[in-house]
Amino acid sequence: MSDRYKIILAEEIIKTNCIPSLIPEHCIELLEMPNDSNLGDYALPCFNFSKTLKKNPQKIAEDLMNRMTLSSEFSEIKVIGGYLNFFLNKKLFIKDTLTELLEKRENYYKLNIGNNETILLEYSSPNIAKPFSVSHLRSTNIGNALYKILTFLGYHVIGINHVGDWGTQFGKLIVAYKRWGSADFLKKDPIKNLFNLYVQFHKEAETNPSLVDEAREVFKKMEEKDAALIDLWKWFTTVYLNDFKRIYDALDVKFDHITGESFYNNHVASIIELLESKNIAKINEGALIVDLAAFDMPPLLVKKSDASSLYATRDLAALLYRKKEYKFSKILYVVGSEQKLYFKQLFKTIELLGFEWGKSCTHIDFGLFHFKDGKMASRTGNIVELEKVITKANELALQTINEKNPDLEDKEIVAEKVAIGAIKFSDFSSKRIKDVLFDWNEMLRFDGETGPYLQYTNVRILSLLRKYEKDIEDLDCEFSKLETIDEFLLVKELYNFRTILVKAASEYEPYYIAKGLIDIAKRYNKFYTSHQILKVKKSIAEARIGLSYCTHIILNLGLSLLGIQAPSQM
Ligand code: ARG
Repeated sequence: MSDRYKIILAEEIIKTNCIPSLIPEHCIELLEMPNDSNLGDYALPCFNFSKTLKKNPQKIAEDLMNRMTLSSEFSEIKVIGGYLNFFLNKKLFIKDTLTELLEKRENYYKLNIGNNETILLEYSSPNIAKPFSVSHLRSTNIGNALYKILTFLGYHVIGINHVGDWGTQFGKLIVAYKRWGSADFLKKDPIKNLFNLYVQFHKEAETNPSLVDEAREVFKKMEEKDAALIDLWKWFTTVYLNDFKRIYDALDVKFDHITGESFYNNHVASIIELLESKNIAKINEGALIVDLAAFDMPPLLVKKSDASSLYATRDLAALLYRKKEYKFSKILYVVGSEQKLYFKQLFKTIELLGFEWGKSCTHIDFGLFHFKDGKMASRTGNIVELEKVITKANELALQTINEKNPDLEDKEIVAEKVAIGAIKFSDFSSKRIKDVLFDWNEMLRFDGETGPYLQYTNVRILSLLRKYEKDIEDLDCEFSKLETIDEFLLVKELYNFRTILVKAASEYEPYYIAKGLIDIAKRYNKFYTSHQILKVKKSIAEARIGLSYCTHIILNLGLSLLGIQAPSQM
């Protein structure tokens, strides 16, 4: 879906016949929106045509201007440098946009670009036997936002949590448990003690490498379905999954399926057979590998020399299973960028198996998460106890609320929404591939580029709407009364949010939405602080209330698409 004003302009530009080779789609693509609206609301850079037309850009822009008939949607056209700049008819633009927005509310933004196409979205996927890491937190938040954004825009999304619940680490855990643990010891604090066992295993293995062989042996027996070992494994995984559930509840994140790696155990043998029968895998030093040298990649190991399966084997099995079961047209893996090469190898192997759709599998990668104070990261790298992060954020949010609004009802509940909102928003504060620097003081500010700032702006509007004692349904807005530049610039942001949504969905970048919301909130606050809203002539007040309400609709929608709750007071 393109911006309707670009479509109108493209038609008019083409009608002039000044640029014979230009087609509407290309023209729409070329049209820019200058950052400074004094330069116009849209601009056509004419440099692109100089070569074919053998004229300088300024001359091309002038010719176009002289031949164009401007439709009523625009008020002015100017040549600035090699650009042809167009100015919207502000009054009409404000009236058209707000009238439609007020009528359709959030449906104004609900563009069906997905056509019910099925997207399989894999996100979160933490590893059992280790605490929930910050990298998994990022995957969880980004995945959850993409789920909501894509669903909103008409895709049929299936969300899967590919929990790491199988692999040699269970061999290690069981060896450690048998040596140093006991049922009673574990029951006291299962997650902590299981992790301690895991850490102890690695420490002891440094001086006693035979432990690793032992663990491998145990895992091999698990793959052979040794009943006693499977019982232990089931116990460990249940303990973890219950714990993860608490985290997902706190974050308000859901999945359609939680199917861990172990779910694909019964499909592993057939994938190995397939790889062998198609001559894609070969034996190398006793192990089975897919040689990817022709594609400048190291080989993908699919079966160990002791015949047990690997992460990659289970992923291949999962991919084929999912394609058959869900008939997805796209599959997206929200996983940190450290696995970039791995996913390339995986998708290439699928292609080599003869499945063309391997080309459309996508790794949605993201950068690391650093804590500015460094204290939160434990010695085991980026493993951070999420619970501690949430608790600290809650405390800080409560502290701020106590300073700003001590009489607020249900302070604890609001503080939690603010805290989780702040944590989540920091994941969207830049493009996902960039690293995130998590700064406690910054992320909880009510006036920075933060989640709480958006929540606060929304609350500000809600309280204004409460003061205006008329029901929204009964508003009779004459939007042509909105004549200030602040109002126009705000409406422009509201209008552009449609394009932003589509861009966020097509590039799988929740960041665009976060940025769009910040821009809207800043514009709103500028408008709010520079103009009287209630103490003006009734017709103006009513139109301004309408504009405020429309802004609230977007903030509410945008926050919910990012998985962030919007409290009604704070
Ligand atoms: N559990 C894995 C890890 O933490 C992530 C899984 C990603 N998904 C996948 N299909 N490989 O490294």
